Amino acid sequence: MHHIVESQQFTLAFLNQIYRLADEMQLDPRPYFMPNKIMATVFFEPSTRTRLSFESAMHRLGGNVISTEKAAEFSSHSKGESLEDSIRVLSGYADVIALRHFEIGSAKRAAKVSQVPVINAGDGAGQHPTQSLLDLYTIQANFGKIDGLTIALVGDLLYGRTVRSLCYLLGRFYQVKLLFVSPSICRMGQDIKDFLTGHNLPWEEVEDFNAALRAADCVYMTRIQKERFLDMDLYNNALNQYRIDKTKTPLLKEQAIVMHPLPRLDEINKEVDSDPRMKYFQQAANGVWVRMALITSLLHPQLQKETPLEQKF
Ligand code: CP
Repeated sequence: MHHIVESQQFTLAFLNQIYRLADEMQLDPRPYFMPNKIMATVFFEPSTRTRLSFESAMHRLGGNVISTEKAAEFSSHSKGESLEDSIRVLSGYADVIALRHFEIGSAKRAAKVSQVPVINAGDGAGQHPTQSLLDLYTIQANFGKIDGLTIALVGDLLYGRTVRSLCYLLGRFYQVKLLFVSPSICRMGQDIKDFLTGHNLPWEEVEDFNAALRAADCVYMTRIQKERFLDMDLYNNALNQYRIDKTKTPLLKEQAIVMHPLPRLDEINKEVDSDPRMKYFQQAANGVWVRMALITSLLHPQLQKETPLEQKF
């Protein structure tokens, strides 16, 4: 049994398997139907894309879903039940659990006590590994490669779990250059910088947003994570520093793509949505195919045996 806790688990062989499956899912998922399987989606933090695309994925695979959104309020967490006890119980109700929780490390804790695979659907400001899978799938679909690309990560790089997971995943590739563009109080964490340096991936903190837009093949915008700030003055200072609108699109390379895990606030003006380089809605849609592939790789008896994942946690 495998759990999906962090992006460092994803080997190149695993990525190949998942992306081949995701391509197959778009054509015909019937060979992988699992009508007797149940997924529990347990979300302690709000979500539109992750929860509903996991549920859509399970339904498209012919499986079933049990769900608690707003779990902090509507599950027995509100009566004082520990995460571990909830997961032990849910292990008896479902074949796989997708968990979003507000604490870093919660998915790892859940995996330690679960009798069924746990999928980290976001653990506080920690990681969002399945988002990184669909992000990479989107980049690969647009460029046909990852090696050699320059990727600008823009916005809240301190609390943004999607960019953290994406960096860990990019550590598997060659000659990828990362440009970090963020407000000074939202800089990328030293742990990620050390990881990238250790994997020979060059990174640079860039003050000049325009220069990053000119240099990047992929511009990955993110929202300032209001829910992680204790001081609203600091949050307000970090807001609205980087925005893509019609004054910025002429700076982008002709073949560049712009991504965003969504939800967006003002980071990308809707006036540029029709520019073919804007890929964030395609990115969100890819979440269904990639999550179908992931669920299948975890639950399909043969694929489960073959799934080349690292599980060191
Ligand atoms: N990208 C993402 O995680 O979106 P949600 O918070 O809506 O799930």
